[in-house]
Amino acid sequence: MSDRQLKFEVFRFNPNTPEEKPRTDVFEFDEVPRMTLFTALTHIQENLDPSLKFDFVCRAAACGACGIMVNGKPRLACKTRVAELPSSISLMPMPFFRMVGDLSVDTGTWFRSMAERLEGWIHSEEPFDESAEEERMSNAEAEKIYELDRCIECGCCVAACGAAQVNRRYLGPAGMLRMARFAIDPRDGRSDAAVYETVSTDDGVFGCIGLAACDDYCPKDLPIVTQMAYLRRKSASVAWKGS
Ligand code: SF4
Ligand code: FES
Repeated sequence: MSDRQLKFEVFRFNPNTPEEKPRTDVFEFDEVPRMTLFTALTHIQENLDPSLKFDFVCRAAACGACGIMVNGKPRLACKTRVAELPSSISLMPMPFFRMVGDLSVDTGTWFRSMAERLEGWIHSEEPFDESAEEERMSNAEAEKIYELDRCIECGCCVAACGAAQVNRRYLGPAGMLRMARFAIDPRDGRSDAAVYETVSTDDGVFGCIGLAACDDYCPKDLPIVTQMAYLRRKSASVAWKGS
């Protein structure tokens, strides 16, 4: 049984009443064993302040809804055990995304617009044939795609990214990872030139300023930096061949 008393400093703001300035509310209570930030926030909402806004769905690090800034670093609330943190914990909403209120931000609108800009889906000229057999691919290819498809769209990499904070059009680490996923998919009929025209810009791989915080804070340990380097090398080689 822990004997720590926890002090939470929680950012509060309602964008629908902008005349009320943002403030920090302080909540103090005892730590309990196996407490996560999600259970701590639920405790605040159920016992101390029912008006506190924060997001969650799965409580299992699978849906990506609960990203927040914890002592200045992006983390999933449901995956973060309070025992890993000091007893004084500051909670802020993730930057970059549209604020909904308090700790809740709208990541979905940005992820959708990023996917639309990148056309993040399989491009095929083949007419759909519902009686055709499923297309085959090797286990090695399927595993590589699966590895990059594990992104839960939590936004932690974008919240940690210095380039995204200064360039609103930056497609972000999650966007580059998505493009890398389609670049290796044998079912995607896009040419290399078409793929790399989309990513070889200052809003794409050349907008990255190399801080690598995306990689440090991805809760799914996705190989973001490796994939960014791959896209940069491939962009250069496609440009070289095309010149
Ligand atoms: Fe979250 Fe990682 Fe996907 Fe970024 S790449 S959105 S940090 S799961
Ligand atoms: Fe789904 Fe945390 S609630 S990832």
